[in-house]
Amino acid sequence: MDQNALKKAVAEAALAYIKPKLSSDSIVGVGTGSTANFFIDALAALRDDFKAAVASSEATAARLKSHGIEVIDLNEAGECEVYVDGADESNAHLHLIKGGGAALTREKIVTAASREFICIADQSKWVETLGAFPLPVEVIPMARSYVARQIVKLGGDPVYREGVVTDNGNIILDVYNFDIPDPVATEHALNSIVGVVTNGLFAARPADVLLLGTENGVETIFAK
Ligand code: 5RP
Repeated sequence: MDQNALKKAVAEAALAYIKPKLSSDSIVGVGTGSTANFFIDALAALRDDFKAAVASSEATAARLKSHGIEVIDLNEAGECEVYVDGADESNAHLHLIKGGGAALTREKIVTAASREFICIADQSKWVETLGAFPLPVEVIPMARSYVARQIVKLGGDPVYREGVVTDNGNIILDVYNFDIPDPVATEHALNSIVGVVTNGLFAARPADVLLLGTENGVETIFAK
């Protein structure tokens, strides 16, 4: 099965997973990326089963609206019943690396404001130790060089993601060759650097459940 077929399978599994949880008052938080896009397309079938969606990016908001799904501001929504999003890597604790699509900050905010975080990913994202995927860090533009120097002191190799401006008007540093034995500690260390908006480690608040698309079907994995 190709990667897109696995992404589509997990998106459909997520739809089945959330369906019993939804009511006419429910707000659904929706992530960003190609796997999330398959979920958005599937979610259109449940359009009348929930109140509205909160989007983690402008691209996701546009796709939701194209399906006639109402998109509301998180400040208006309060808490989301569920948040469904992809990931670049997941370990067995459901600590994630996210932000390949540069939407990490809004993704982390919607995660924080959601009762349950359902991660959807194909099997290529499953890792023993996080860090082979370069870790995205969103940075205030004027702090770029300062933050890069601090990240080098922490042992990583930051690379400026050329030509990318986040929905929040900031830049992304992708950190290569980063040893991440303790994802919660690394998440906090990066967030303590002045000028960092957020980083792509979702470890302090990991996913609650991972729907992992494999050649043998979709596995439902809870955190160890
Ligand atoms: C965007 C993300 C995505 O969830 C992550 O990059 C995975 O993307 P895809 O589903 O396209 O493989 O964090 O910021």
